[in-house]
Amino acid sequence: MNAVLKEIHQGALPSLAEIEAASRVVYREFQATPQYRWGLSSQRLGTDCWIKHENHTPVGAFKIRGGLTYFDALKQRGALPTEVVSATRGNHGQSMGWAARARGVACTIVVPRGNSLEKNAAMRALGVTLIEHGEDFQESREFAIALAAERGAHMVPSFHADLLSGVSTYWWEFMRAVPQLDVVYVPIGQGSGACSAIAAKLALGRSLRIVGVVSAHATTYADSLAAGRVVEAPVSTHLADGMACRIADASALNIMAPHIHHIVKVTDDEVAQAMRDLYADTHNVAEGAGAASFAAAMQERTQLSGQTVGTTLCGGNVDSATVAKVLAASPPRFSLRVVRCPPWGAAPADWQSQFRGPCLKNPGPCRSGVLRWRTQSRA
Ligand SMILES: Cc1ncc(COP(=O)(O)O)c(C=O)c1O
Repeated sequence: MNAVLKEIHQGALPSLAEIEAASRVVYREFQATPQYRWGLSSQRLGTDCWIKHENHTPVGAFKIRGGLTYFDALKQRGALPTEVVSATRGNHGQSMGWAARARGVACTIVVPRGNSLEKNAAMRALGVTLIEHGEDFQESREFAIALAAERGAHMVPSFHADLLSGVSTYWWEFMRAVPQLDVVYVPIGQGSGACSAIAAKLALGRSLRIVGVVSAHATTYADSLAAGRVVEAPVSTHLADGMACRIADASALNIMAPHIHHIVKVTDDEVAQAMRDLYADTHNVAEGAGAASFAAAMQERTQLSGQTVGTTLCGGNVDSATVAKVLAASPPRFSLRVVRCPPWGAAPADWQSQFRGPCLKNPGPCRSGVLRWRTQSRA
C-alpha cells in the first residue's frame, strides 16, 4: 500500500471497551450468535473449519449490529433525526429499518432496480419506504445522498465508526469463542465487516491472519489495495449482491491496508458451489456474500492444512428462486486422473486448460514422477 492512502487514524476503530459497550447495545435486541466447528465442512476443507452464524440474527445478517449502535450513538448525542435515508442491496437497509423503527424514526431506503425481491419485502415489513433507483448500488447511493440533502433528512453511510462498533461485536464474539483461530476469511462489500474483524483482533491482542474476500466480478477493494488509491471497478456479480460495490471507501481502505493479510477473489461459480456445500454440510441457507468466506477458504484449502480456519456465514437472505436454482444446478464434475508428470512436477502449458487445481498427491513442486489431477467438466 503506498503513501497515497493516509496513515490509519487510531480513533477510527473501536477499542475493547467500546466493543464491549456496543455488545450491551446489541444484546438488548438479541443474544450472541453461535459458531460451530462443522464436521462435514472441516472434512471438505481438510482442516478445522469454524462457521460464525450471522444468518441467525433477527434480520438474517450481521448488519443489524451496526444499525443498533449507529442509532444508539445518535440517541446518546441527542441527535436522533425525524428521518433517515440510506442506500443498500438489502441487509444494511434491514438493519436501518429495524433500528429506525425501534427509535420511532422514519426510514427511506434506496435500492437499485432489480434488487432482491425478498430483501425488498423484508425491508418494507420493517416499515421502510423503499425507492428503486439506479442500475447499481453506487447509483442508488448517489441518489440517496441527494435525496437526503433535498429533504433535510439524515443520510446514513455504509461505512462509519458507529456502524463499526456494532459490527465488531460479531468478530469479538467469534475470536473469544474460538481463541485458537489461525486465520479468518472476511467478505468485503463497503468494508465494515473487514474493518470490524481488524478492530476485534487488535482489541483482543490476537495474531490471527485476516484474509479479505472480494467477488471476482466486483474488484474495487482488491484493485484499490493493490494500487494504494481508490480504483473504481465494474460490477457484474449475479450472486454476491452484498459485495457488489463499484467504488471502495477510502477510509475503509486506510484501515485495511496494514492489516489485511491478502485478498482472495471468488467467482460466482465458486460462490454457488460454496452455497451448495454449506447447505449440504450444515443445512443453513447462505446468500452469495454469506458463502463467499467459505468459497475463499476452499480456494486456498491446500495451504490451510493443520490450521484452524474461521469462516462467516454472514447472511442468509437470498431469494427463494435463486437458492432453488443454485441448489438444483449441477456442480462441476470432477474425476481423478493419474498421469505421469514431467520432470519436477511442472505441467505443460496445454495441460493447464484441461486440468484444474494442484496435484492431489503433492500440492507443491514434487519429485514423485506422478501427478494426480482433478479434471473438471460441466454437466
Ligand atoms: C451478507 C453480507 N456479507 C457481506 C457484506 C459486505 O459487508 P461490508 O459492506 O461490511 O463490507 C454484506 C453487505 O451488505 C452482506 O450483506
